[in-house]
Amino acid sequence: MFHISTASLPSPEEIHSLVKEYGYVPLEPPPTLDLFAEIERLKKAKNAIILAHYYQDADIQDIADFVGDSLQLSQKAAETQADMIIFAGVHFMAETAKILNPDKKVVIPDLNAGCSLSDSCPPEAFAAFKQRYPGYKVVSYINTSAAIKAMSDIIVTSSNAVPIVQALPSDWRIIFAPDKNLGAYVMKKTGREMVLWEGVCMVHTIFSYQKVRALRAQYPEAELIAHPECEPALLELADFIGSTTGLLNYVIKSPKRQFIVATEPGILHQMRKAAPDKELIPAPTEYSCSCNTCPHMKLNTLEKIYNALYYEAPEIALSPELMEAARRPIERMLEMSRQLGLISK
Ligand code: 13P
Ligand code: SF4
Repeated sequence: MFHISTASLPSPEEIHSLVKEYGYVPLEPPPTLDLFAEIERLKKAKNAIILAHYYQDADIQDIADFVGDSLQLSQKAAETQADMIIFAGVHFMAETAKILNPDKKVVIPDLNAGCSLSDSCPPEAFAAFKQRYPGYKVVSYINTSAAIKAMSDIIVTSSNAVPIVQALPSDWRIIFAPDKNLGAYVMKKTGREMVLWEGVCMVHTIFSYQKVRALRAQYPEAELIAHPECEPALLELADFIGSTTGLLNYVIKSPKRQFIVATEPGILHQMRKAAPDKELIPAPTEYSCSCNTCPHMKLNTLEKIYNALYYEAPEIALSPELMEAARRPIERMLEMSRQLGLISK
């Protein structure tokens, strides 16, 4: 980040060209500034809301107005009365918020915060794949770009994929994209055949089956809880499989005291807050690295959030046509989730 003096505040044009070059506003906030207090003040002054995913750093979760999984975050985004949404998550999440709020300003602290799963499904290649299956409907995981959403019939998240696919008309032949692990899990739970796009998440496929088995032997009382983006062999070992919110609620409700957690460790912050008496053991990876943390999610920092609020940049911008085409399958998901009692009315 660069230092700037308050005597030479950059113009909107300068901010625009910095964002074009770096993907975020690379300016150091004044060193004496209390970032927490200033973020609170700016939120009120600008009628802005901060939505954060569970994989964000603890301090970002603590300054957020709402922390949740992808389904809850899209529902919050659809309902908010705020004039501006600061989305502390990754690009597809902020894009979803913008699609649901085309007239609002949606700002992401760092445009470089992508998603390996979303990137594994490029629109041109997916359009060609879809052509090979005429008459098929497309069910897409929310971890996709707006362009893939626009080619989809309905969107799902990790918390509603099973009940939604179960409830789809039985004559639908389905392509599921982009996560092959979630797709395989949905097929197993629903008994429905689906054609799977071969995408994976770089974080959830790195957990070591052998090391997790060894850990289970070491902690025989511990329950293994896993996100459905993990490899099928690891999911076979799990006592509970669920979205980030599902895993959090499971830790709170389970009478057990120890849990091996196979997902990104950002979720441990809320688990520790809600269930301080429980022991949480992050699932080990294939390598001796911290590669179970999502490098995209971790691009967001408190400084970038402050800058995003202050300069109202980088903003998510999409064409009205793309937003309209991508909105239909997202709204179908929200509508079906309401009908199935998965979210409140
Ligand atoms: P959740 O919807 O379960 O929060 O998952 C989002 C995600 O990106 C998992 O890697
Ligand atoms: Fe994407 Fe995986 Fe990061 Fe989730 S954890 S945002 S699926 S790269």
